Amino acid sequence: FNILVLNGPNLNMLGKREPEIYGSLSLATIMDELTDIAQNHNINLSHLQSNAEHILIDKVHQSFEQVDFIIINPAALTHSSIALRDALLAVNIPFIEVHLTNVHAREAFRQHSYFSDIAQAVICGCGKNGYRYALDAATDWLNNTQG
Ligand code: DQA
Repeated sequence: FNILVLNGPNLNMLGKREPEIYGSLSLATIMDELTDIAQNHNINLSHLQSNAEHILIDKVHQSFEQVDFIIINPAALTHSSIALRDALLAVNIPFIEVHLTNVHAREAFRQHSYFSDIAQAVICGCGKNGYRYALDAATDWLNNTQG
C-alpha cells in the first residue's frame, strides 16, 4: 500500500516552534520514525511538508489513483482551507486528520475544522504519537481489519 503523509504550514518549525506546546522533536525525526514503522508493515510511506497551500493541493491531485490513504496535519489550513478540503474530496482518497495538540482545548478559532466531517478519523492531542496511531489505523483500514 501507498500512504502519503502531508504536513501544512509552520510544521517545518517543529522542535523550535513553541516547544512547550508542540514538543521538542523536529518534523524530520518524527517522519523518519514513521517511515521505519511503515517499512516494517510493508507500507510505502512518502511525506511532504509545505507552507504553501497550492503545493499541498497539487500533491493531493498527483495522488489520484496513486495513493491508497492520506494522513494529514493541515496545521492552520485546518481552520481556513476550503480549497484543500475540496482537493481531498476531488481525489476521493480516505484520510485521517492529525493534530499534535488538542485543538478543542485551545483558542475558539481552532475548534472548527474544514476536514473533520469528511475524514475517516481525527486524532488530536497525542503529540507526535498521533501520526503513529493514524498509520496503525490506516493500515488496519487498508487490510480491511478495522472493526
Ligand atoms: C496543529 C493545530 C493548528 O491549530 C495549528 O495551526 C497548527 C498545528 C497541531 O498539530 O496541533 O499549526 O495542526
